[in-house]
Amino acid sequence: MKKDVEPVSLGEGDTPLIPSKSNRRLFVKFEGANPTGSFKDRGMTLAVTIAKYIGAKSVVVASTGNTSASAAAYAARAGLECLVYLPKGSVARGKLFQALLHGAKVVEVDGNFDEALEEVVARYVDKASRHVYPLNSVNPWRLEGQKTIAFEIYQQLGFVPDNVIVPVGNAGNIYAIWKGFRELREVGVTDRVPRMIGVQAEGASPVFKTWLAKADELVPVERPYTVATAIKIGRPVNWLKALTAVRESRGFMLSVSDAMIVEALKTLAREEGIGVEPASAAPLAGYRVAVEQGLIGRDETTVLIATGHALKDPEVKF
Ligand code: F0G
Repeated sequence: MKKDVEPVSLGEGDTPLIPSKSNRRLFVKFEGANPTGSFKDRGMTLAVTIAKYIGAKSVVVASTGNTSASAAAYAARAGLECLVYLPKGSVARGKLFQALLHGAKVVEVDGNFDEALEEVVARYVDKASRHVYPLNSVNPWRLEGQKTIAFEIYQQLGFVPDNVIVPVGNAGNIYAIWKGFRELREVGVTDRVPRMIGVQAEGASPVFKTWLAKADELVPVERPYTVATAIKIGRPVNWLKALTAVRESRGFMLSVSDAMIVEALKTLAREEGIGVEPASAAPLAGYRVAVEQGLIGRDETTVLIATGHALKDPEVKF
C-alpha cells in the first residue's frame, strides 16, 4: 500500500449558488460548473485518490454518462486506466465524447444502465481485485465527496434552507447531500436540517413508486424511459438510502413528465441564463408541482440541485 499519495484533484466544487430572478427565495446550485460539467467530480476526486492509494492499476464504472466522463478525466489525471460500461444508445453525446477524449476504454452494453451495472458488479465487485477498482455508487467514497454540496449551500446562504430538491437516478446523491446536512447538525454547526425532496422522471420512477407505496422492497421499473437519460434507471442500487434521506428529513418524492422537464429546462436557459441537461431541470419541474400542490411555499428558501451542464446533451428537443 502506498502511503504518500497526493490527492487527485481538478479543483472541483465551489460551484455558484445562483438566486432565481423570479423568486429571491429560490436558488440554483449550478453543478455544471465542475471541471467535467457535473457533480460527479466531487466524489471522483476522493474515490480515484483511494484507487491510487490502494495501488489499483485501473478503475471501472457503469454509467448513464456523467460518472464515466468524470471517472475518465480523474483516472487520466491519476495515470490509471479507465474502463466504462455504458448502455448502448442511451448516453448523451457530450458525455460519451468526454469518456473517449480522456482515453477511457468504452464497452457498450446491449441493454439499459441496470444491466450495465449488473455486468460491472458481476465482473469486478463480486470478484474484487486490488488491481481493478470499481467506482460505482456502491463505492462509499463517492458519496462522502458529494456531501460537500450541503456544506457549500450552508456556507453560501449563511443558513440551512427549508428545502433541497435533487434529481434521483441511482439515488446516491440525495443521500450524500442529506448526510452532509445531518453531519452539520451533529457537530453543532446548525440546529436544523432541510427537507430533502427527490424528483424522478415519470417513466423511470422506481424510488417515487416505492415511496408512494410505503413499500419495504424496491418497486422496480423494468423498461425505464425518459428524455433525461442521466436518470434513466429502473433498479437504483441506493434506493433505500434515498428513502432514508426523504423519510428522516420529512421530505417527499415527486415524479414529473418529460414535457415538464423540457419546459423547466427552457425556463432555466431562457429566463435565468442557466444551461443544464434534462435531468438537472427535473428539480425545477418538481418545485412547480410542489408549489402548485401546496407542499412547498414560495416564501420558503429552496435550493434546486442543477446536477449537469447543458453541453452534456446537445441533442435534446425543445
Ligand atoms: N443528474 C445527473 C446529471 C446525473 O448524471 C445523475 C446520475 C443524477 C442526476 C442522479 O444522481 O444517481 O446519485 O441519484 N448519473 C449517474 C451516472 C447514474 O452514471 O452518471 P444519483
